[in-house]
Amino acid sequence: MLNQLQTGIAITGSGSATPVVSLDNHGLSQWVETSDEWIKARTGIERRRLADAQVSVSQLATEAAKNAIAMSGIAPTDLDLIVLATSTPDDLFGTASQIQHQLGASKAVAFDLTAACSGFVFALATAAQFIRTGVYQNVLVIGADILSRWVDWSDRGTCILFGDGAGAIVMQANTSDRLLGFELRSDGTQNNCLQLAYQPQPKELLPGVTVAQGTFHPITMNGKEVYRFAVQKVPEVIEKALHRANLTAEQVDWLLLHQANQRILDAVAQRLKIPNERVLSNLANYGNTSAASIPLALDEAVRQGKVQPGNIIATSGFGAGLSWGAAIFQWGR
Ligand code: UT7
Repeated sequence: MLNQLQTGIAITGSGSATPVVSLDNHGLSQWVETSDEWIKARTGIERRRLADAQVSVSQLATEAAKNAIAMSGIAPTDLDLIVLATSTPDDLFGTASQIQHQLGASKAVAFDLTAACSGFVFALATAAQFIRTGVYQNVLVIGADILSRWVDWSDRGTCILFGDGAGAIVMQANTSDRLLGFELRSDGTQNNCLQLAYQPQPKELLPGVTVAQGTFHPITMNGKEVYRFAVQKVPEVIEKALHRANLTAEQVDWLLLHQANQRILDAVAQRLKIPNERVLSNLANYGNTSAASIPLALDEAVRQGKVQPGNIIATSGFGAGLSWGAAIFQWGR
């Protein structure tokens, strides 16, 4: 129930964009010692899109955003806020303003938000606060990542998992409230399970004055720990968000999880007793696209006509931080 100060929220458009180049498991097994059978059996992934050096996060994000804006029926100049969830920015000072410029969204304030594979759900919840309080009416939320730039391509335990892409949604102030509940969590004690960490190299400027010059080290991951964490925490956080929404898992039309591993999707669905035919999955074609994976899968399902106006969607992102979160919403106005 909304009080007088609160505004309803609707998700009125979705869009996505992926690089053209697709690398299947057979191709990848020419690069690292792996096989199509192993990757499919352990992850469900069959191929992934990879961005070449000409492609940028802002380009993919802008294309996805244009599609979402077109679906919502607003103009870029109607946007008040752009939140870009990414862990692989083109510019560490922020990439969202480049997207604002490329879209011609001259009125919008734009900023980046970093929460790895939970980034999209965290950004959705952040954007919602601005709409709820009546501050902004039209918000673009984007999840975009080019993790292929930060993968250790000699580590077969991680390089087989990731792909590149972008997805976006438009969130608008609405007379009815379609964002029914959310819940966000972090646990820094497990930060070392999944990292893309800065490696400082000391550089002495003057005697007694040393700074650090270095670079980010490619992704390191304890796959088994992350797997365990996801299977345990994701059902819990979805149940908490459902509780806030006054709903049960039975009432969910679509379970839309971060596309990390088909085994994780299956295990979470099983825990929640949601049948497979109500689980959205496109990771066979894209792998784990980090912050992009949820809006990319949502957009495909909307454009395929699977997700219909009024459908209840339970979504959950999880990953580095460790961080995890869930949101329950109804598609459309
Ligand atoms: O956004 C969140 C991102 N992270 C995740 O979602 C990761 C969650 N974890 C996972 O998805 C799984 O842990 C992986 C798919 C990463 C790994 O699956 P696993 O069933 O945990 O395999 P494992 O690491 O225990 O490896 C089993 C065996 C090992 O061989 P031995 O020691 O049993 O002889 C590995 O060396 O498989 C071997 N292996 C591979 N073999 C062929 C590991 N990677 C590969 C590979 N191809 N790519």
